[in-house]
Amino acid sequence: MTVKVFDTYERLSRATADLIIGGIRKEGKSLICIASGHTPRGVFKCLADDANSGKLDLSNLIFVSLDEWLDIDPKDSGSCISMLRNDFFDHVKLRDDQVVLFDINAKDLQVECKRINDLIARHGGLDVMLVGIGTNGHIGMNEPGTSFDTYAHISTLAEETIVTGQKYFTTATNLSKGVTLGIRHFQEAKLPIIMANGSKKAPIIKKVIQTTTPTVEVPASVIHKTKQAYLMLDREAAHDAPIDFK
Ligand code: PGA
Repeated sequence: MTVKVFDTYERLSRATADLIIGGIRKEGKSLICIASGHTPRGVFKCLADDANSGKLDLSNLIFVSLDEWLDIDPKDSGSCISMLRNDFFDHVKLRDDQVVLFDINAKDLQVECKRINDLIARHGGLDVMLVGIGTNGHIGMNEPGTSFDTYAHISTLAEETIVTGQKYFTTATNLSKGVTLGIRHFQEAKLPIIMANGSKKAPIIKKVIQTTTPTVEVPASVIHKTKQAYLMLDREAAHDAPIDFK
């Protein structure tokens, strides 16, 4: 893995956007998994600004949403799709076929997971997979204890995720399960990226960096066996970790 640390969130976001742009295929369509949540908002702004100023052509990109809460109305402002719309999709021009989402109302969620897995497999894997990290080390909704071998699956949320997840909602919300791409998708992506900013993420980033023998108890520690992966940090998130940076 490659670790990069930036002075500010803005620089981190710009560099992560540039990394993603570098991961776009020269020919054919690129499949890009994006996470909702607070971390990637700066990246989305950079991508949207580039697209709207004509510097970036989005027409050959397909965006796959990383995850979604179950039993939450997709129209709720805290749903993953609402966040992605507010932070990205509403600011760029995309055709319907350029956005792939989990349908949480599908009759059979296992079949829905298979649909998403098959779509990614048909493409030959994800070209880029951008994820944030939870304070418990989760990536997507792959909570501690989740096998590194999983593709898309239904997840039972960890208590910490249920508590911290409240930040996305305007009222107290009963979260318990989700659907998410798996850690196997991360390992197989051509360009997997974990991004973290702010001091709240410093303890988990320290733990991830120190967990050099990956363990399912710290899902993001899989990055140590994902050679092509990037860990993109701002100075605050990197603060506690034993990383050499100027
Ligand atoms: P955040 O969430 O980007 O809102 O901090 C990250 C996560 O929990 O995966």
